[in-house]
Amino acid sequence: MKNRQLGPLAQKLYIKTYGCQMNVYDSGRMADVLAPLGYTLADSPEDADMVILNTCHIREKAAEKVYSELGRLRRLKTAREKQGGRMILAVAGCVAQAESEEILDRAPFVDMVFGPQAYHRLPELLAGLKRAGKAVLDTDFPPEPKFDHLPKDIPDPGAPGTSAFLTVQEGCDKFCTFCVVPYTRGAEYSRPAEDVIAEAARLAAAGVREVTLLGQNVNNYHGAGPAGPGSPETWGLGRLIRELAETDGIERIRYTTSYPADMNDELIAAHADVPELMPFLHLPVQSGSDTVLKAMNRRHTADDYRRLAGRLRGARPDIGLSSDFIVGFPGETDADFAATLRLVEEIGFVQAYSFKYSPRPGTPAAAMDAQVPETVKSERLEALQDVLNAQQLAFNRSCVGRVLPVLLDRPGRKPGQLVGRSPYMQAVHVDDPIEGPGAIVRLVITAAHANSLKGGVEGARGQGAGGQGAGAEPIAERASA
Ligand code: SAH
Ligand code: F3S
Repeated sequence: MKNRQLGPLAQKLYIKTYGCQMNVYDSGRMADVLAPLGYTLADSPEDADMVILNTCHIREKAAEKVYSELGRLRRLKTAREKQGGRMILAVAGCVAQAESEEILDRAPFVDMVFGPQAYHRLPELLAGLKRAGKAVLDTDFPPEPKFDHLPKDIPDPGAPGTSAFLTVQEGCDKFCTFCVVPYTRGAEYSRPAEDVIAEAARLAAAGVREVTLLGQNVNNYHGAGPAGPGSPETWGLGRLIRELAETDGIERIRYTTSYPADMNDELIAAHADVPELMPFLHLPVQSGSDTVLKAMNRRHTADDYRRLAGRLRGARPDIGLSSDFIVGFPGETDADFAATLRLVEEIGFVQAYSFKYSPRPGTPAAAMDAQVPETVKSERLEALQDVLNAQQLAFNRSCVGRVLPVLLDRPGRKPGQLVGRSPYMQAVHVDDPIEGPGAIVRLVITAAHANSLKGGVEGARGQGAGGQGAGAEPIAERASA
């Protein structure tokens, strides 16, 4: 029987997200845009009428994963069509932006290809697909920011949970010579402060306690102040964070990713003064060698980074630093790599990501002479990760015996267990949580592993039941400003 329903058809949408946190945020917004058309989220591609791969182009491996996933989805789509059904297959995100028509050449069964600046036009793209009956492509950079066109009053189709991302800035004008982001995400754009504040309030009303402000260069945020566009006043990230800290219900604020040369006094001062701002900062340095940093077109030296770490620790002595590293950048010598190891030893990171340099089409570094052999890259990566992993484990162990406020956010594997986040982003498992997700509880850290901690509610068991403190002590705190 034909579907006679008026209005939007009930349809299922599955979005697979690759890469960065900004893609996670973007996938949420795509679901928002499609919700008025009747799309709700499916648990798997098998159940979906439309599948979107929200892709990442940052390294070759990330980009190639998309094509293998497309191969799998093709079989699913063909089987569906054989049964008389239909599945719309879309490639979104940075691979879509960078490869555009090439995707349709390599995977002609794909129905839609659109970049990170086009997802607010999804309803039009779907209409275009229906009209044309052939694949549609949208990888233009529109003159108007997409944020203005996103629905504002639709709750996230999946409950946002206790912690949410909030994009405040997008794009990058730094042009590090290894990086595709300036090409795939376009020029820097900061959302007006009022929009960000309103979105934070909506998230808080939906139960979110922690927001992570996102941007490729988030600490270069310079959004129009509340007087609106046209007003000469722009706000920096420090100012924005102070304001967001006043939002009822928002107890924790983080931001990522930052560019060292854009850390300004106002933002560093916010680390000293705003208790909601967590004492953890992801601040990528990439390399400890000034020669390599220069070739990367990073606008800081290794000593600049050392000084910056010192200033941040001056403002917030318990701050934990995290970083990104690239090994095997073209021309990197053993001495350059040794300088990276030295920097790591000196700074001491609580957590870090490290990557082998991956030449990306169209970036200046891909055309540089003296590409480093794969075997050397692998050796350096292993040596660097040994040091970084040891630092992370040492930091985790140093937490044992401390009491940390943990935001409980999801069930653990064992019945009754909950997992939460420490201020330093460590996953903390607690077997007898007492409070539920959304609570910030003070946990005594009892064990440390490479990637997680175990905690117990402070004083929960009372004396004689294995607890350490007096049983009558307050056991949980609803954090408040
Ligand atoms: N500011 C960005 C960082 C971009 S990509 C953000 O929003 O997160 C994240 C990290 O990937 C970079 O810091 C860098 O360490 C790594 N990366 C980027 N391009 C790379 C390449 N071509 N090869 C290897 N690693 C790369
Ligand atoms: Fe990429 Fe450098 Fe910008 S790493 S995102 S070009 S700051």
